[in-house]
Amino acid sequence: MTISKKIHKFIEQGGWIRKMFESGIILKQQYGSDNVFDLSLGNPVIEPPAEFHEALLKLASNPIPGMHRYMPNAGYQNTRDVIAKSISKESQIDLNGNHIIMTCGAAAALNVVLKTIIDPEDEVIILSPFFVEYEYYIDNHAGKPIIVPTKSDFTLDIDLIEAAITSKTKAIIINSPNNPTGIVYNEETYQALSDLFSTKQQQYNHDIYIISDEPYRKIVFGDIICPHWFNHYENSIIVHSHAKDLALPGERIGYIAISPTASEISNLLDGLTFSNRILGFVNAPALMQNLLPHLQSSVIDPGIYEAKMNFLYSELTQMGYQIAKPQGAFYLFPQSPIKDDSAFTEELLQEKVLVVPGRGFGTEGHFRISYCVDDAVIEGSLHGFKKLSEKYHMV
Ligand SMILES: Cc1ncc(COP(=O)(O)O)c(C=O)c1O
Repeated sequence: MTISKKIHKFIEQGGWIRKMFESGIILKQQYGSDNVFDLSLGNPVIEPPAEFHEALLKLASNPIPGMHRYMPNAGYQNTRDVIAKSISKESQIDLNGNHIIMTCGAAAALNVVLKTIIDPEDEVIILSPFFVEYEYYIDNHAGKPIIVPTKSDFTLDIDLIEAAITSKTKAIIINSPNNPTGIVYNEETYQALSDLFSTKQQQYNHDIYIISDEPYRKIVFGDIICPHWFNHYENSIIVHSHAKDLALPGERIGYIAISPTASEISNLLDGLTFSNRILGFVNAPALMQNLLPHLQSSVIDPGIYEAKMNFLYSELTQMGYQIAKPQGAFYLFPQSPIKDDSAFTEELLQEKVLVVPGRGFGTEGHFRISYCVDDAVIEGSLHGFKKLSEKYHMV
């Protein structure tokens, strides 16, 4: 075999989203793209805010000499300073540019963090259902993922998390607003986890990091607020991306922010900067880094996603689907009416509706719907959902 056994195995195991994507292409060729309702991908349908294009045009018309050259691996100091200032304002915690490392999106940021802190066999706790790439990212750096399920309403089970912590635990990855559930963890949860990890750090006499993966932080609904880890836990590391809040997933821009109270902070920053380089990212895209200082108060309108969520949530619950109502992000994670979630998603595929089985996120018996699509796709999918709700006598 030309490719490694491990990669071959991962492709076989983790191919749910890819499988749906490929099925979608075939169905679209067969029936025309207007007749296939693809709710499988988290690719935002919204265009970036107007300020993005304005800043881009301005920069292109007045190029800064040297703006396409190599730069320090942590990114432009000015961009880091501006981002630190924004976070300080929001969290009321004093940060400076040296607490920020610019990255190629959240995916790169997570790999940079894990590369920097993990020794072989170190354990990293992840909470199911989880963003499917976490297992692979942890494996990339010879760590061991420890999967802890959430409660049936997808809130965190602190007792189960406590039971999973060992002398080898190096970190936990938290993702709120959550992909795939849309759940946002509240201040009490942050405090309970912080208390737990502070105690465990003392017990095992080493640092344990809370890595908070926050690409959906600004996509929250109603009066929901995402708390700040920096107000709760000393060894917290935030991973952010502008893939969702500025609708720029193709531009690969994000950052790591480190709590100013993290231990051995200058070592940590040196490690992160070095890892950014040796993982081959070198630095985050220069063009995007030059634009971000002009976009600190810009964000796509989360109300657009909230309206799509409310519509689909209401339609599906009326059909009898059981769903924990999302508070942010752009996913629904309903229960499958039959135990075998992959069989159910196959049935939806027959109705030309594409969703991803829950087992792709470590939680069987559910399926994920991405509603970051045109309204016509959401409306077109209702027929298939209805047909199966009738088949399984859901109301
Ligand atoms: C929870 C979560 N983390 C990380 C990422 C990766 O984001 P990026 O495109 O910025 O690498 C995604 C993308 O969908 C995500 O949903």
